Amino acid sequence: MKLTFFFLLLLLLLLLLLPLFATCSEKQVYVVYFGQHDGEKEANEIEETHHSYLSLVKESEAEARESLLYSYKHSINGFSALLTPEEASRLSKLEGVASVFRSRPRKYSLQTTRSWEFVGLLEEDGRAIKSIRRESDVIRKAKFGKDVIIGLLDSGIWPESKSFSDENMGPIPKSWKGICQTGPFFNSSHCNRKIIGARYYIKGWENYYGPLNSTLNDYKSPRDFDGHGTHTSSIASGRRVPNVAALGGFARGTASGGAPLARIAVYKVCWPIPGQSKAWGNTCFDEDMLAAIDDAIADGVHVLSISIGSYEPENYTVDSLAIGSLHAITKNIVVACAAGNSGPGPSTLSNPAPWIITVGASSIDRMFVAPLVLGNGMKIEGQSVTPYKLDKMYPLVFAGEVAGQKVPQSLKGQCLPGSLSPELTKGKIVLCLRGNGTRIGKGEEVKRAGGVGFVLGNSASNGAEISVDAHVLPATAVVADDAVKILAYINSTQKPMATISPARTELDSRPAPFMAAFTSRGPNIIDHDILKPDITAPGLNILAAWSEGDSVTKLENDHRIVKYNFDSGTSMATPHVAAAAALLRAIHPTWSSAAIRSAIMTTGNTLSIFLSALLFIMAKSARMTNNMGEGITDAKGKPANPFQFGSGHFEPTKAADPGLVYDASYEDYLLYLCNINVTSLAPKFKCPKVAPKTTDLNHPSLSISKIRGPVTVRRTVTNVGGGKSLYFATVKPPMGFSVVVKPSILKFNKIGEKKRFIITVKPHKDAKSMVGDNGYGFGWYTWTDGVHMVRSPMAVSLA
Ligand SMILES: *[C@@H]1O[C@H](CO)[C@@H](O)[C@H](O)[C@H]1NC(C)=O
Ligand SMILES: *[C@@H]1O[C@H](CO)[C@@H](O)[C@H](O)[C@H]1NC(C)=O
Ligand SMILES: *[C@@H]1O[C@H](CO)[C@@H](O)[C@H](O)[C@H]1NC(C)=O
Ligand SMILES: *[C@@H]1O[C@H](CO)[C@@H](O)[C@H](O)[C@H]1NC(C)=O
Ligand SMILES: *[C@@H]1O[C@H](CO)[C@@H](O)[C@H](O)[C@H]1NC(C)=O
Ligand SMILES: *[C@@H]1O[C@H](CO)[C@@H](O)[C@H](O)[C@H]1NC(C)=O
Repeated sequence: MKLTFFFLLLLLLLLLLLPLFATCSEKQVYVVYFGQHDGEKEANEIEETHHSYLSLVKESEAEARESLLYSYKHSINGFSALLTPEEASRLSKLEGVASVFRSRPRKYSLQTTRSWEFVGLLEEDGRAIKSIRRESDVIRKAKFGKDVIIGLLDSGIWPESKSFSDENMGPIPKSWKGICQTGPFFNSSHCNRKIIGARYYIKGWENYYGPLNSTLNDYKSPRDFDGHGTHTSSIASGRRVPNVAALGGFARGTASGGAPLARIAVYKVCWPIPGQSKAWGNTCFDEDMLAAIDDAIADGVHVLSISIGSYEPENYTVDSLAIGSLHAITKNIVVACAAGNSGPGPSTLSNPAPWIITVGASSIDRMFVAPLVLGNGMKIEGQSVTPYKLDKMYPLVFAGEVAGQKVPQSLKGQCLPGSLSPELTKGKIVLCLRGNGTRIGKGEEVKRAGGVGFVLGNSASNGAEISVDAHVLPATAVVADDAVKILAYINSTQKPMATISPARTELDSRPAPFMAAFTSRGPNIIDHDILKPDITAPGLNILAAWSEGDSVTKLENDHRIVKYNFDSGTSMATPHVAAAAALLRAIHPTWSSAAIRSAIMTTGNTLSIFLSALLFIMAKSARMTNNMGEGITDAKGKPANPFQFGSGHFEPTKAADPGLVYDASYEDYLLYLCNINVTSLAPKFKCPKVAPKTTDLNHPSLSISKIRGPVTVRRTVTNVGGGKSLYFATVKPPMGFSVVVKPSILKFNKIGEKKRFIITVKPHKDAKSMVGDNGYGFGWYTWTDGVHMVRSPMAVSLA
């Protein structure tokens, strides 16, 4: 009797709970987007409106309130909430709702097995410091960016770093409206006249993964545990810090960001991935990023630097960075975003919207040479920033020969965790190949198995791109060709031997820059008629400030803490360009966001140039010395093209005086969206019956896909150089096409004057046989007055 009662009760409970479980598991975060705000509604009023929409699909008022994550009420009008697909669908049909899309977690742009690692040390050379004195006129003119505010969406900041000292900085700009949000290990004293604002956004993350707890090694506050956000912030705007020493104590020099007196506003939106090594990167949720951008716009940032990319290209309608940055354009905020690190394959690019500056990554001319000397006397030029030495020759083996029995054949050379046999590995130098697993993790595995040294061999797809790491044992990394040579040596002798020489810094390496193998590429599959990326900037082995919460390698068992560290990725390239934009904003406060992008793009350099200390890049790049006088190549030494570098390598000092700019307004972007039938981004905008063609958007580059016959496009240039001037057009047409610019001479009488011209592209009969294997041909058109060179790349494909 009693038992039956309990049984019934249990059954009842289960029945009651079941539907609850069922709906819970179906619920996901959706963004419900309305577009722009009407006029001057109070924040409360807006949130109430959002509630009332939610109440229409939820059972109760309480449930509506509980399901809401964020109400976007400054510039962006919308909210994110937990919804079932059915509720989402009902909401999407309601009057006033422009779109409803599911949020997905995103990753930092550096995430592939081929990259995402860290670390090192740098010997600073005196030349770099001299060059800053010689070439700082643009930085000086920009007053080092002192009234410009750079917002960074990232993993937070390590505020104690000297790179963020506010010593001798003036008062916070009066326009600033942001806050200093406090939390664990981050109180109001951690903001200063340098870090003028700090906030964090974690609701989306916590909804997905559960409450952030201490096992995850992060702080529920703007403090950066990871290191990534500290790194990008200091590249954009770190102070000049003399006598910086890195791991091992042997790197010493002056560090500096591109706009060292600009202010930093921290928007922490990226968090660890539970159950995954930090070495694989972090994750950032759409709803958190939208909230951050909405706040950043209201806070009054001038530039947004966003080193975040999606796994794959996304349509604008579901791309929170595209939506958020379109709102930023209304306030003339310049938005720089990472192209992503999903290269070297084609069509891997993220952040393709034309109102964003999409940044690719390339190398600088510095190497950290640590030769591998083989038993036969052959010397292989490896690179390393590992501060450990080998005293003599040791047996050398290929990882495949010393892997455990159970390791699948295809992964035998990879040194994945637990894969090496300690018996066979002990006392040896092990050659591991790249491909699966992190670089730094392979070194850890060799050490675990008792190896004395480690050679990291590039796979063919990595080519000559080497990201240096502070491995946990003596190590060096070699290019793909050299890995093959070492394998051949191992095969050729009974007793292969080797030793690794200590690392030293070498400058003037050639060619430089070359494109990083990992940088994501066009063609832009979201819109073939917008050429992306826009520009490339240094993103390989960049030294900058680091979090002291995390180790130098992010490995859990590594306890080496550093203040400055190396990192690689389009994540590092992006704040270089954001810094350039900040300097331009300081020099030309009235320029539009599009004008600033144009200035950066049309002065980009596609020749190999001489670049020295990476943190001085802003000052150095004006020199534009060709170090080989040839076009930029990819990591395998093949010519690179605009699908990798866009308009070329950025040249901030030249960008300050571009001569002409291709300007575009917010409305121009809305007309562009009308043309491609994407009306939900700005639903209140009345599209004309016939909107201008995409190819007529006044972008500083040109892409025309699927050409059948002659195509004519329009452009407008604005004179921002001297008053009276005469510009002449020159053209380098893609092979198999003719390109005519009309008129071919533009005469300007005053600053601000606009002139229109048209470009006619015509395929020759034999064009099909002339385009590259990717179906595209590339060319240029240039306006020059003898002083300025205003260059635009073009990409064309046949129908
Ligand atoms: C903030 O924390 C630091 C220690 O990290 C402490 O020295 C300082 O007094 C704190 N400031 C405030 C306002 O609590
Ligand atoms: C912390 O979070 C992780 C991942 O969500 C979870 O696996 C773990 O059990 C949590 N630990 C504690 C102490 O709550
Ligand atoms: C973008 O949207 C279009 C139309 O809905 C769809 O055909 C296409 O597959 C989408 N592209 C991506 C990359 O999601
Ligand atoms: C190794 O990498 C290859 C290619 O990237 C991938 O297809 C494979 O799934 C990976 N294997 C493991 C065990 O991670
Ligand atoms: C080394 O020898 C193995 C078999 O003994 C062979 O599969 C491999 O291709 C050789 N490698 C080189 C680089 O010669
Ligand atoms: C937009 O819609 C119009 C009318 O339905 C159609 O003709 C046109 O091809 C569409 N454009 C794009 C880019 O989808």
